[in-house]
Amino acid sequence: MDLKTQKMRTFNNILVTGGAGFIGSNFIRYVLTKTDFAGRIVNYDALTYAGNAESLADVAQAFPGRYEFVHADIRDGAAVAAALEKYSVDAIVHFAAESHVDRSITSPDDFVQTNIVGTFRLLEAARAMGRKLALFHHVSTDEVFGSLGETGFFSETTPYAPHSPYSASKAGSDHLVRAFRDTYGLPVTLTNCSNNYGPYQFPEKLIPLMILNALEGKELPVYGEGTNVRDWLHVEDHCEAIWTVMTKAAIGETYCVGGRNEMRNIDVVGKICALVDTLAPPLASGAPRSSLIRHVKDRLGHDRRYAIDCSKLERDLGWKPAHDAKTGFEETVKWYLASSRWVDSVRTGAYRNWIERNYASR
Ligand code: NAD
Ligand code: DAU
Repeated sequence: MDLKTQKMRTFNNILVTGGAGFIGSNFIRYVLTKTDFAGRIVNYDALTYAGNAESLADVAQAFPGRYEFVHADIRDGAAVAAALEKYSVDAIVHFAAESHVDRSITSPDDFVQTNIVGTFRLLEAARAMGRKLALFHHVSTDEVFGSLGETGFFSETTPYAPHSPYSASKAGSDHLVRAFRDTYGLPVTLTNCSNNYGPYQFPEKLIPLMILNALEGKELPVYGEGTNVRDWLHVEDHCEAIWTVMTKAAIGETYCVGGRNEMRNIDVVGKICALVDTLAPPLASGAPRSSLIRHVKDRLGHDRRYAIDCSKLERDLGWKPAHDAKTGFEETVKWYLASSRWVDSVRTGAYRNWIERNYASR
C-alpha cells in the first residue's frame, strides 16, 4: 500500500511513553527515519531496568531539535502534564508498561501500579488537554484475550479473558482507555499485537535470551514441553502498523496486529540454535547448540496458544507485514551478535551512568 497517496492524520509533537524500551525505541527510529513525519518526538520514560535511552543515541544525534528525552514516570501526573505543555504535544503514543509475564507472576504490584494506575494518570493528563490533543494511541497485547486451543484466532471481537497479572493489568488499561473515549470523548485508537522480535529487546524475553545463552554456551530453559504456540511479528512491522492506525484509522477504533506466523516455542529455540551455530564460532565442546536445551518447570498459568486474525487491519488500512520469519530471525541473531556493547549495557544497568552524563544538565 502507498501510505503517501491516502489522506492521513498529521501531528506536530508526539509524546511517546516507554520510548526507551524495546518497541518504543524501534517506533521512534521508524517514525523519524522511515515516514514523512516532519515534527518532533518526545520520549517520556522512567528508565526502569527495561529502558535504555542509549538505544536511541544515534537518533538523538541525527535529529537535533526533533528528538527530546524526558526522564519521568507516567504515574507522576504533574510531570506528564508539564511535558505535554512544554512540548505542545498533540498526540500521545502509550508504550510504557511493565511487560514481562514472568516478572508479573513474582511481582504483580509493579504491573498494577504502572500498567493500570500509570495509564490512568496519563489519561487524566490527556483529558485535561481538551481539543489540543488530536490522538491518544494505546499499545496493547493479544494476551488480554486469554488462550486459544488448537484452532481459531483472536480478533477485535474476541471477549477479554486475561490470565496472568500482566495481561490482566493490560486488560485494565485497555478498558480505561475505552472508558475515557466513551465517557469524555477522548480521541483514542488502540492496537492489540502478538509477540514481537527484533533488535533492542531486553534479554529476558524468549528470543534474545536464547540467542545470548546459546552464544555463551549456557543452558536454554524451555518451559514445559515447549509446545506452547506464539505468533511472531518483526518489531518494525508492529511499528508500521501502529503508525498506520495513528495516521489513517477512524477515531475510537481498535485493530489486532499479528504476523500470521505461529510457531511452537521448541521450534523457535531450535531455529535460533541453528542460526547461532552458523553465524558464531562453535562451542568448545563441538556440540550443536541444541544440546543446551533443557525442559524446565512450566510457567504458572502458561497460555497455550496465541494467534491473531489481522484481516481488519489488512482490509481497512492496507497494512501487511514486510518481514518474513526466516530473514527476520537471521537479522535478529546477527544484530545481537554484533551488539555486545548494548547487551553489556542493559545487563549491567551501565546505561544509567550514560543517561546521567548526557541528560543531567537539561
Ligand atoms: P519494554 O519492557 O521493553 O519497555 C517498557 C518501557 O517502559 C521501558 O523503557 C521502561 O523504562 C518504560 N516504563 C516502565 N514503567 C514506566 C513508568 N512507570 N513510567 C514511564 N516509563 C516506564 O516493553 P516492550 O516490549 O517494548 O512493550 C511496549 C508496549 O508494547 C507495552 O505496553 C506492551 O504491553 C506492549 N506489547 C508488547 C509486545 C511484545 O512482544 N514485547 C507485544 C504486544 C504489545
Ligand atoms: O503476545 C504478546 C506478548 O508477548 C507481550 O504482550 C509481552 O509483553 C511479551 O513479553 C510477550 O509475552 P510472552 O510471555 O509470550 O513472551 P516471552 O518471550 O516471555 O515468552 C514467549 C514464550 O516462550 C512463552 O510461551 C514462554 C516461553 N519461554 C519464555 C522464556 C523467557 C520459555 O519457554 N523459556 C524462557 O526462558
